[in-house]
Amino acid sequence: MADYDVIVIGAGPGGYVCAIRCAQLGLKTAVVEGRETLGGTCLNVGCIPSKALQHATHNLHEAEHNFAGMGLKVKAPSVDWDQMKSYKSDVVGQNTGGIEFLFKKNKIDWLKGWGSIPEAGKVKVGDEIHEAKNVIIATGSTPSALPGIEIDEKIVVTSEGALSLPKIPKKMVVIGAGVIGLELGSVYARLGTEVEVIEYLDQITPGMDGEVCKTFQRLLAKQGLGFTLGAAVQSVETTKSKAKVTYTLRKDDSEHTVDADVVLVATGRKPYTDGLGLSELGVEMTERGQVKTDSHYATNIKGIYAIGDAITGPMLAHKAEDEGMAVAEVIAGKHGHVNYGVIPGVIYTHPEVASVGETEETLKNQGRAYKAGKFSFMGNGRAKANFAADGFVKILADKETDRILGAHIIGPMAGDLIHEICVAMEFGASAQDLALTCHAHPTYSEAVREAALACGDGPIHS
Ligand code: NAI
Repeated sequence: MADYDVIVIGAGPGGYVCAIRCAQLGLKTAVVEGRETLGGTCLNVGCIPSKALQHATHNLHEAEHNFAGMGLKVKAPSVDWDQMKSYKSDVVGQNTGGIEFLFKKNKIDWLKGWGSIPEAGKVKVGDEIHEAKNVIIATGSTPSALPGIEIDEKIVVTSEGALSLPKIPKKMVVIGAGVIGLELGSVYARLGTEVEVIEYLDQITPGMDGEVCKTFQRLLAKQGLGFTLGAAVQSVETTKSKAKVTYTLRKDDSEHTVDADVVLVATGRKPYTDGLGLSELGVEMTERGQVKTDSHYATNIKGIYAIGDAITGPMLAHKAEDEGMAVAEVIAGKHGHVNYGVIPGVIYTHPEVASVGETEETLKNQGRAYKAGKFSFMGNGRAKANFAADGFVKILADKETDRILGAHIIGPMAGDLIHEICVAMEFGASAQDLALTCHAHPTYSEAVREAALACGDGPIHS
């Protein structure tokens, strides 16, 4: 008799959600986690702490820029950085403690330590070997550093170090205009740091809807972020307290340098599978170092599965969670499934940016006839009242059938608004279905309805 039906390695959003679902489905489950708290990168040093800083600094922005206009008189706000970091740690503690509670509630064993798989059906943690009928690799990802650039998490930092800097830097260079660079870059810009973002490509957030990218860059520039696009960072030299970043412009190969107090390296992440013993086991990997799985998350070794950032697909907490639930159902003999065509992506800046499905660019590449219904938050009463009228909603629908193919939102609460479109897409809805749905007034969601109306006979408020 094996000790467990399932041992999950890694307690991030993929692993802990998977474990809870396994337990709910009646499987005897344990999770191996070496961190002192549960929740993985997301809860400890990623999504959650960065949202706390996002929230605090957005309120600072409101106090500095919008309070007076609303008739709110306060002394000029100042920042107690240590208190802000302790608020952030408190938020993290509440969340990681919550997962521990859920483990106890669902009778999931936490095997504390770093796990490896000496052979199929066995997981080694410290000196102990635990037996399991199924092992799920949910070990996540780690920042992929640039060659020749040494991360010290003090002057040259990843997203992790950037969340706990000892003081607010005067000047920060961000390498990479992707999600992490822009989220954390805008946090520090609001704290008064001069932020310069250096990006290899000629646009920020590659892969996103082109029109959204342009508006997004314009709004971030208005908030004080500087951008150097088409620039390949070559090296970062550090002294005791400063850094010098050298980059070449791709258009003419000219070399430039820029000084900074802190350099945030945000050039992507790579799967983290070190120490698991996968090559000794013969687990097949992709060329990009991801664990290879079939559509049921099974590796080539019987009884070993993998999910989340460790396998292919977007590195998103919610994608990992969905895969965690799906693989639990597969193991329990049910029909776990993830619809990869409807996975929203959100960038938590102000305004937020959210997208799902096809972009105009991907539709054009496919030669697919589509219509784009667009509505600006300038025509939304609630957004105007809340100093949040920058941005728009764009819905893309099939030209013939009106079926929604994708949506892109830049604006207030975009990360929440996107979900009614996700649900509509899951049901194969048309833009007209959304347009005919009554939306409460005054809400931001009316802008989604107006964009849907714009796919048909036209929006009302523009
Ligand atoms: P990213 O892949 O989003 O962006 C990296 C950027 O760095 C790219 O634009 C790339 O062109 C640029 N770059 C690469 N090498 C460069 C060089 N030598 N010089 C200049 N620019 C260079 O990666 P990021 O922001 O580090 O995020 C990592 C992962 O974590 C992503 O998959 C992201 O989706 C995920 N994530 C998601 C969040 C969310 O959903 N809100 C939040 C944080 C991370």
